[in-house]
Amino acid sequence: MPAKINVDKLQESLRTKRLGKHIFFTREIDSTNAWAKQLAKLGAEEGTVAVAEIQTAGRGRLGREWFSPEGSLYFSVILRPQMCASEAVGLVFVAGLAVAEALREMYHLKVETKWPNDVLVNGRKICGILCEMNTKGDAVGFVVAGIGVNVNSTEKTFPESIRETATSVQNELGKTVPIENLFRTVLERFESGYDLYARDGLAAVLDKWKRFARFLGHGIDVVSGDELLSGVALDVDATGSLVLRLRDCTVRALSSEMSLFM
Ligand code: BTN
Repeated sequence: MPAKINVDKLQESLRTKRLGKHIFFTREIDSTNAWAKQLAKLGAEEGTVAVAEIQTAGRGRLGREWFSPEGSLYFSVILRPQMCASEAVGLVFVAGLAVAEALREMYHLKVETKWPNDVLVNGRKICGILCEMNTKGDAVGFVVAGIGVNVNSTEKTFPESIRETATSVQNELGKTVPIENLFRTVLERFESGYDLYARDGLAAVLDKWKRFARFLGHGIDVVSGDELLSGVALDVDATGSLVLRLRDCTVRALSSEMSLFM
């Protein structure tokens, strides 16, 4: 069966300076995040990407599984940002913004960002992001930004546990789309957002991210550590923390965390 992602063809038309200059492709892997971490430890350059057509053990946040059959997009980008660990947490917004912009631009979908790192369409999750960071003291060794987008899958093929809450590009458009074009656009938007962060700081990224954030001003439920908190989302502040007004009217700022690994 021909590969759904032709890396050579993709790289010919990719308009980035660093992201995707080196792309490691495989048909099947346990998790592209695990693979990218190994590559980073072996010295892979900033912007190196690991992509697979199928993940056998795709991982999500909070130890969850990421459903990863053939037909969707699973990749991880290695970043070596010149920033401290507390700043690097903001990279989840760069990744979310890149996917939101790409989905809107390419398919005119009604895209939403959800704090901290989800992208939704019509209230259902279409993309998940898992950023993991390797630190040396407060300095960042590298970050692996893993992105999974449900592309060519239908509701019927989703496992029962996510059937009510997930969607895909195919589900929304009623037709399949080429994965490669979406992959290219996400990489291009990702690099633009990454450069924006380095040049103008997180506030500039958040300004764009918040234009997709329809949850602001509305009641939401958030898992923070061991707690499930309900309240009104007032803002995402300059550090990327969610400002939540709880039912008892107290205001809490919940920081978006990135998992660390050695
Ligand atoms: C979440 O919503 O909980 C995050 C899901 C992240 C999934 C992507 S798919 C590519 C990369 N490899 C993984 O194992 N996970 C991320």
